Amino acid sequence: MDGLKERIRRAVHNQPQPTVTILSSLLSVEDELGYIPREAVEEVAGYNRVTVNDVWAVVSFYPNFRTVPPCEHRIEVCWGPSCHLVGAMPVIESVLEAAGLAEEGDTPDGKLTVRYNTCLGACALAPVMSIDHHLVGRADPKKGRELVGRALDNNSGDPHEGAGFRG
Ligand code: FES
Repeated sequence: MDGLKERIRRAVHNQPQPTVTILSSLLSVEDELGYIPREAVEEVAGYNRVTVNDVWAVVSFYPNFRTVPPCEHRIEVCWGPSCHLVGAMPVIESVLEAAGLAEEGDTPDGKLTVRYNTCLGACALAPVMSIDHHLVGRADPKKGRELVGRALDNNSGDPHEGAGFRG
């Protein structure tokens, strides 16, 4: 059994909670791999005794499930109410422009995923963004461009530097 299939099998079969569903199985795979490959759909179908089509129906219902491997880095920009009121849109625009994207999505080189988020859970520090789950409070367009630049450039050091709420 290859490494990918073994990781999927373990993720699906070792769920700790008593009630296992198609959704919980998919979330477990997503936690393990960061996406849902075709092989996982087959494993989840077999384990939950449903058809592959049933599993695809769940995968396609939730836009947050990825079916391709994740990019190297992930930047999320909050556009929830608190962030929207204090300047989320200019941050989003600067991030998209620096990433060369028209909308949220992946850069073609596979280095960066940009996603919008409806609340990153730190409203008091709005506008908020994150890079690889490291939060950045009081973000502004300059910070957005800076983080995208670091994520896209292999030679510019730690892309998470400056993330967090200090400084
Ligand atoms: S609304 Fe942006 S962090 Fe809550």
